[in-house]
Amino acid sequence: MTPEQLADRVLSWYAAHGRDLPWRHTRDPYAILVSEVMLQQTQVDRVIERWTAWLERWPTAADLAAATRADVIAAWQGLGYNRRAVALHEAARMLAEQGIPQDQAGWRALPGVGPYTAAAICALALDHDVVPIDVNVQRILERALGATTIEPPTGKGHDLTQALFDVGATLCLARIPRCEACPLASDCPSRGQRYEPQRKQSRFEGSRRQARGQLLDRLRQAPIRFVDCDAEIAALLIKDGLAERRGSMLTLPQ
Ligand code: ADE
Repeated sequence: MTPEQLADRVLSWYAAHGRDLPWRHTRDPYAILVSEVMLQQTQVDRVIERWTAWLERWPTAADLAAATRADVIAAWQGLGYNRRAVALHEAARMLAEQGIPQDQAGWRALPGVGPYTAAAICALALDHDVVPIDVNVQRILERALGATTIEPPTGKGHDLTQALFDVGATLCLARIPRCEACPLASDCPSRGQRYEPQRKQSRFEGSRRQARGQLLDRLRQAPIRFVDCDAEIAALLIKDGLAERRGSMLTLPQ
């Protein structure tokens, strides 16, 4: 199968079977940035509601830039990997001051935006002919083409990206792919293959990440006396801009 055939088939399949996700109804770069940052480590199902609420509360980068750090961290509750909230707030300030970057290098200058997210925003918001490679897209390309990248047909960067996300999420699954429903199966060299379970993420229970999350959740309720916190965990939150010390208290950053 050639890359062109893959793109054609995936695009036709997407026209009939694509998911209707709320961020697919906008091309606003700020809104797409919020969705991509949320989706970096949180499942689509959980992001849908949170993204919608976020954009109701802070519809533009300027609105988010004007919010307090404490409000932004509080609003991130339950999404995990809280440093993303700090980075997104900082990115919104830069967008509000400097305007919308027009290329991947410009996006990568924003905190929390790596090569994948920069490419995703360029494809999804700016209609660039590029496909961002996340683990799901990478898996499809490797299995079907033995390739690590794909160039979209002219004008199809946006749709091919969304289509590959959907193939990766619903058909070309990591362990047991649903080849019987896949538009690529007839010419896919990996058709019918099963895969070993993937290496598990390091255990969350009892981890430092868990302790940080728990302390931050307490701070979301109210400030805590510094002497009542684990000083090492508090120091990690302070270092990441997620908390600050005010006199004898640890608080969300004001
Ligand atoms: N995963 C990362 N970005 C996504 C998007 N825009 N839609 C669905 N899943 C995604």
